[in-house]
Amino acid sequence: MQEEKSQKLWGGRFETKAASIMERIGESVSFDKRLYKQDIIGSIAHAKNLLKIGILTKEEFDSIVTGLMQIKTEIELGQFHYTTELEDIHMHIEHRLTHLIGQAGKKLHTGRSRNDQVAQDVRLFIRDETNEILESILRLLDVILKKASDNQELVMPGYTHLQVAQPIRTSHYLLAYFWAFERNFKQLQHTLEVNDILVLGSGALAGVNYNTDRDLMLEELGLRALSDNSIDAVSQRDHILNFLFAASLILVHASRLCEEIIIYSSVEFGFISLPDSLTTGSSIMPQKKNPDIAELIRGKSARVIANLNHMLILLKGLPLAYNRDLQEDKISLFDSVDQVKISIEGITEMIREMKFHPEKMQNSLNRGFATATDLADYLVNDKKIPFREAHEHVGKLVSLCVQRNRTLVDIEESDRASISEHFVGESYFAAISLPNSTEKKNVYGGTASVRQKEQLKKAENSLANLRQSLQAEK
Ligand code: ARG
Repeated sequence: MQEEKSQKLWGGRFETKAASIMERIGESVSFDKRLYKQDIIGSIAHAKNLLKIGILTKEEFDSIVTGLMQIKTEIELGQFHYTTELEDIHMHIEHRLTHLIGQAGKKLHTGRSRNDQVAQDVRLFIRDETNEILESILRLLDVILKKASDNQELVMPGYTHLQVAQPIRTSHYLLAYFWAFERNFKQLQHTLEVNDILVLGSGALAGVNYNTDRDLMLEELGLRALSDNSIDAVSQRDHILNFLFAASLILVHASRLCEEIIIYSSVEFGFISLPDSLTTGSSIMPQKKNPDIAELIRGKSARVIANLNHMLILLKGLPLAYNRDLQEDKISLFDSVDQVKISIEGITEMIREMKFHPEKMQNSLNRGFATATDLADYLVNDKKIPFREAHEHVGKLVSLCVQRNRTLVDIEESDRASISEHFVGESYFAAISLPNSTEKKNVYGGTASVRQKEQLKKAENSLANLRQSLQAEK
């Protein structure tokens, strides 16, 4: 009997062993073992506090730290033994520690509950992972900048309703994603401000019966502020929600980009191609080269958005304070962390490696009458024709082009002249020219080449600032 009860940390109160179903449904170690590093760091900070308030002697403290370090090594070398008899990583570490160092190990949980322990570990985990994700966004932004800088002169079709709308510089298109991911970066930094809070000292929910020095642990763990309410501290999961929302927005941006990569690399568009190394073939159709990476990331966005929903739904009906439902909060968090990281890496590689096909872009621009608006604006500016009338003239010309299966570039001069006397001569060709069209979009934030240079400069500065701010946090 004694042996049967021995593993549980609440052995005193319980006569019989947990049923198999209790153990299987109750265990979280199969996934929360990912928190081992944070658990050990958190325990050392807690032990420092216990030393300061006289619960631990210096010898006991030292043996706890040595024991925890040994456990860390065992885990990292794959030598640590996991069992579902011990619910979670927190119990595993404490159990092993006591086995290694004896009595002192049994003192570690003084003035602490797994409720504040797990809440703290997850916050530390979010901080560590967010910092890695921020680094990976910097790499992505860098690649986008480079690609944009190399493609300022390449004019491509811009779309609305997925119908050719107006010519844009390819740099302009790429920089649209630069700013999207730059916002993601800043949003993640903001989530850290709310995340990096010390909750240790909250105990199970009411605080603890010891003279716990929370400021010491705050300092030790490099956190920003103390939680103000112990009930809130152990029951809220806003830091996870914030992360999951930020992750969802990253994947929404990534998924839109992927959708375009998929479309633009089809035979029908043919604007870009990905290298063999980033595509897959088909087991039956020899000609196929599929943009699987882009499709997978588009698919992953569903999962990451679902994880945010999972967390919102998990929380919405929970009474304060801790409820065991919360054990499953880590599943969505871990999954989103993994999916965000691999997706950012995937789009970074796709952007780095993609090749553009200018002829295909030019063809779509011409066949899509991309400079029709410019032609109307020419009638307005140079010929003083009211815009509505100009719009109609150009509409008629486009319609005639469609009838004749021509573009604005190659429709016969006689056909043009039949609609307007202004559609003849050099000034007509200047009005429908692709580079001229982009050059005229010379407002701040527009697609003209001076504005591209200006925007690139601004993006570069912004990237340097982001880099610096990340450095400063370390
Ligand atoms: N395994 C639990 C979790 O991950 C740890 C906290 C358990 N607390 C409790 N009161 N049973 O949420």
